[in-house]
Amino acid sequence: MNDEKEIKSARERKLAKKKWKEEKLMKSLSKSLNESNDVETGPALKKIKSEGSSDVGPDSYKRRSTLSIAVPGSILDNAQSPELRTYLAGQIARAACIFQVDEVVVYDDLGEEESSHSDNEPQNEARPCCLQLARILQYLECPQYLRKHLFPLHKDLQFAGILNPLDAPHHFRQKDKTIYREGIVARRPVKPGRGSMVNVGLEKDVQINQVLQPGTRVTVKLNCDEYEDETSTGHSHKLRGEVVPPWQPRAHLDQYWGYHVRIANSMSAALSDCPFQGMYDLIIGTSDKGSKDIPAQLPSSDHILILFGGLQGLEMAVENNGGQLYKSVANDMTNLCDYYLNTCPKQGSRTIRTEEAILISLSVLTPKVVFKSGSFTLGASSES
Ligand SMILES: C[S@@+](CC[C@H](N)C(=O)[O-])C[C@H]1O[C@@H](n2cnc3c(N)ncnc32)[C@H](O)[C@@H]1O
Repeated sequence: MNDEKEIKSARERKLAKKKWKEEKLMKSLSKSLNESNDVETGPALKKIKSEGSSDVGPDSYKRRSTLSIAVPGSILDNAQSPELRTYLAGQIARAACIFQVDEVVVYDDLGEEESSHSDNEPQNEARPCCLQLARILQYLECPQYLRKHLFPLHKDLQFAGILNPLDAPHHFRQKDKTIYREGIVARRPVKPGRGSMVNVGLEKDVQINQVLQPGTRVTVKLNCDEYEDETSTGHSHKLRGEVVPPWQPRAHLDQYWGYHVRIANSMSAALSDCPFQGMYDLIIGTSDKGSKDIPAQLPSSDHILILFGGLQGLEMAVENNGGQLYKSVANDMTNLCDYYLNTCPKQGSRTIRTEEAILISLSVLTPKVVFKSGSFTLGASSES
């Protein structure tokens, strides 16, 4: 009887210690996030405590709202040198990160007629400017310690050295204490009965509980106990963790975790191949020809898409989509968009460039965003 009691209280002490360690790690994580990113982590911490360490699962992400922007790859072709081409792509990446954009759609606004594909190029291959813009966006979104593994030498990245870094909250340094990290499955033999090792940018690789293809990018949740012990006492442990869905850190911590890049071969593909459940439910077109009446608050939405045009604007992108239908849509862009807005009604220059329009429009529109469910700290949420 006494033995049983002792075992029970030892177990309780162990559990209390584990809980205390988790809380301590979360507190220090919240402190370092507040210091380095000025991110409001209070609600996120509450969420973690109430949910324990359970996986919030894809369903919780489906309930999360998202912000996407669509940008034509052709804007790179207007840059005057390969260096400026690269720098321009970097400006798009920085704008997306600054405004916590979840998805950047790089679309082809030139259509079939102006196709620059050579005869021996596969027909469904995206236009080179779209590929380069997408590649640079992905490169900048990727934490630096993973880049050499995920981005082999490529001419599109020849001038990547001049790019300004995103300094995104998920780009951790080795000393940063954090429960989630982006990683790459190491090319190391896996011992029988064990999981793969993952390089998460720490001194040591982390062992996960499953065997995955080497070279795969994964999001890892580190085992709090071992990680805390390792960082606070310096005791050497084998670090363990589990692979979680890439959206989990954002759902758990309410912390921006980068954007996803999608290439669309036309405007219609940009609109219809929405990766989020329920499709885009608010589409906003931008143009100097749009309405100057910006609503005080946008309708409550789940998945917002803001469209930007290239040199000849969105109408041309829609016309180039091909077919009579698109010609008539292009005559009145409100057929396609819920709003067609001029976000800089008093522009001094005759033209606003796409990269400038993205910054202007996102700073005008994001404060008016109302997300139906669980905002990502960006706009207001209609749920209290
Ligand atoms: C060089 S401009 C194209 C100019 C063209 N006249 C047009 O139709 O907007 C490239 C893109 O920047 C954005 N843009 C330019 N001026 C804007 C404005 N005043 N308000 C909102 N977006 C604008 C639009 O997305 C446009 O397609």
